[in-house]
Amino acid sequence: KLPAKVTIKEVGPRDGLQNEPNFIETKDKVDWINLLNQTGLSYIEVSSFVHPKWIPQLADSEQVLKSIRRKPGVTYAALVPNIRGLERALNCQVDEISVFMSASEGHNQKNINKTIDETFPVLKEVVDEAKKANLKVRGYVSTVIACPYDGPVEPEQVLKVVDRLAEMGVYEISLGDTIGVGVPTQVERLLETLLKHFPPRLFAMHFHDTRGTALANVLKSLEMGITAFDSSLGGLGGCPYAKGASGNVSTEDLNYLLTGMNIDTGLNPQALIEAAFFIEEKLGKKLPSKQMVIARNE
Ligand code: HMG
Ligand code: MG
Repeated sequence: KLPAKVTIKEVGPRDGLQNEPNFIETKDKVDWINLLNQTGLSYIEVSSFVHPKWIPQLADSEQVLKSIRRKPGVTYAALVPNIRGLERALNCQVDEISVFMSASEGHNQKNINKTIDETFPVLKEVVDEAKKANLKVRGYVSTVIACPYDGPVEPEQVLKVVDRLAEMGVYEISLGDTIGVGVPTQVERLLETLLKHFPPRLFAMHFHDTRGTALANVLKSLEMGITAFDSSLGGLGGCPYAKGASGNVSTEDLNYLLTGMNIDTGLNPQALIEAAFFIEEKLGKKLPSKQMVIARNE
C-alpha cells in the first residue's frame, strides 16, 4: 500500500549547485530560492557551512541565508560539518541543520577528512550544541549502496552508522545513494535491514540518478513505507568528492510520479518547471529532467 502523502525536500540550492564549476552569483541564488517559495515546497536546503575551499560554490552561504525571503511554514536548512560550521549557521538564522557522514571509510575520508570513528564525536558535539540552540537536526548517511572508493557497502555497515546517528537524536536520517548505482532489490535489502530496528518515518531517501534508477528506487521505498524524499529541481547535483556522481532525482519528475499515483505532495508542477528553467538559464547549460524536455518541446 502506498502512502497518501509524501514530503519532498528540495536540495537543489545545496546539492544541486555544490558541484557546479562556474560560480553562480549570490543574487541569482537568492532569487532562485525566493522563486522556490512559490512552488509549495515546505523544505529547502539552502546551502552549507562547510569549508569554503572544499566547496567554493557555496562560500556565500552567509549572504544567501541572510538575503532570502522567508515564507512562513517553510524550513530553510543547511549542511553543517562541525562546530565551526554550526557557529556560522547560527549566525544567520537557519531553521534546521543537517550533519553528514558516509557509511564507507573511503568516501568519508575524501569528503570530510576523517575516519568514520573520528567523525562520530564531531557530529555528536554539533547535535548537542544545535539542540541547545533549539535547532532541529537531520542526519545524512552517504554511500548507502556503494562507495566510489571502496565498492559495495553492506546494509549492516549502514545500520552501524544509522544506529549512532539515531542515538545522537537526529529526527530523520537521509540515506544517500551518492553515486546513483542502486537498483530496487538493493534498496529493498537495505531497508529490510534498517526497518527491523527503526520505523520508516526515521528515514528519507536521497537518490542520485546517475544510471536512471532513482524513480524505480523511489517506488520501492514508498512500498516499504518511506514518506520523505530529497530531490533537486531540473535533476541538478552531485558530490565533488564522489567521482562520477551526477544529479539528484529531479523534483519535477519525482512530483509527476507521486501525483500520478494520487500521492499528495503539495507542489505546483507549473511553478516547479518555471523555477527549474530559471536556474537552467543561470547555469547556461541544459538540465536533465524529463519534465523540462517535455516543456521545451511544447
Ligand atoms: P579539515 O581541513 O579536516 O578541517 O576539513 P579542520 O577541522 O582541520 O580545520 C582546518 C581549517 O579549516 C581551520 O582553519 C578551520 O577553522 C577551518 P585554520 O585554523 O587552519 O585557519 N574550518 C572551517 N572554516 C569554515 N567553515 C567550516 C570549517 N571547518 C573548519 N565549517 C571539513 C574538514 C569537514 C571542514 C572539510 O572536509 C569540509 O568542509 N568538507 C565538506 C565537503 C562537502 O561539503 N561535501 C559535499 C557535501 S556531502 C554530499 O554531497 C552528500 C549528500 O548529498 C548525500 C549523498 O548524496 O550521499 C549530503
Ligand atoms: Mg547528494
